Amino acid sequence: MLTDRQLFFLNLGQTSTEPLSLEITRAEGVFMYGPSGEKYLDLISGVSVSNTGHRHPRVVDAVKKQIDAYMHLMVYGEMIQSPQVKYAAHIVSLLPESLGSCYFVNSGSEAVEGALKLAKRYTRKGRIIYFSFAYHGSTHGSLSVQGSEKYRSAFRPLLPDTVQIDFNDFKALDAITTSTACVIVEPVQSEAGVIFPVKGFLEEIRQRCTDNGALLIFDEVQTGFGRTGSMFAIDKFSVVPDILVLAKALGGGMPLGAFISSGEIMSSLVANPQLGHITTFGGHPVCCAAGMASLNVILEEKLAEKCKAKSALFRKELDHQLIKEIRGEGLLLAVQLTNRDCIRYVIKNAPHYGIILDYFLFCDDAFRIAPPLIISEDEIKLACCQLKLLLDDAMKKSGKR
Ligand SMILES: Cc1ncc(COP(=O)(O)O)c(C=O)c1O
Repeated sequence: MLTDRQLFFLNLGQTSTEPLSLEITRAEGVFMYGPSGEKYLDLISGVSVSNTGHRHPRVVDAVKKQIDAYMHLMVYGEMIQSPQVKYAAHIVSLLPESLGSCYFVNSGSEAVEGALKLAKRYTRKGRIIYFSFAYHGSTHGSLSVQGSEKYRSAFRPLLPDTVQIDFNDFKALDAITTSTACVIVEPVQSEAGVIFPVKGFLEEIRQRCTDNGALLIFDEVQTGFGRTGSMFAIDKFSVVPDILVLAKALGGGMPLGAFISSGEIMSSLVANPQLGHITTFGGHPVCCAAGMASLNVILEEKLAEKCKAKSALFRKELDHQLIKEIRGEGLLLAVQLTNRDCIRYVIKNAPHYGIILDYFLFCDDAFRIAPPLIISEDEIKLACCQLKLLLDDAMKKSGKR
């Protein structure tokens, strides 16, 4: 009989020639465990998903209760399902009043697709503006607004009338005109290596959109649910988008995405044509129950607020000569090294040091630290201690001292 590792390479579609390929049999809190009892501290949260850790008891309990009541009933938008409506109401209660209508889908890419379609449908215009080194997903529409030709060019033709401009470049905002349907932006660019907007940049985008009748879409798929130290990154900037896109931690470890706007904007999907955007599994009741439980944990345990001190502790403990800079806020950190050739070695060998790290898609001289927000002080100290040993090792290997 073939092992799971053999089956992984034989029968599973692969995404790269170098998958992490760690075999995991159990996960709990901030730890993952291998088949022979190997223990790994998760420093990436499945890429900003497991904000309340793995298998939080309240999330597990909510999932079990919902499964005992019902699973899939009917395509999205037809039947009144308590976990769905209660979760939508809870999320919008945390957002500015104008973001009052939540459309659930299954993933971040799908939420981006919905948001782009909604903007085109509402404005009756076609041009979409997006930013260099933005990541919004891997489907055709979301790939069309991904700010890297390297990943895009092999899949052309993509959506027409998309215009890429540079993040943090005020002059480039002249591209926003009366022909623009929408501007899609991550308030904090994650896959670019955690790049914050310069002062006034998001405000200026907001103003240009308003002046030109374009909708502003914020993609908070990665920054949402406490990751950067506030519940949403928009809380930091006091800029209200017309459409907010959420996913990842939204489902508390289950697949869930959403695009959120005003009732007036959202209503443009229901007529001419009817069923302007539809999904079978969007807002699956089990995923909504899990997301609701996870959100309550984030709120009640003040996990977003506690991020600040945890972030500071990482910065304090991660004192190493191979580190050039630690960028980011809360628990979305990019650790930039003085020697980019070490990145691959560090990430590949992290499991030997009992930690899990990951790359950024568009930043090859930094690795990601984005652990579950429940990580404790002792766990942070342990992670940093292991990380420093790994960096020592990487320095020796690269012959640099
Ligand atoms: C900012 C951002 N938007 C959208 C997506 C796409 O989400 P998904 O992988 O759930 O389709 C991602 C995924 O990494 C993301 O980071």
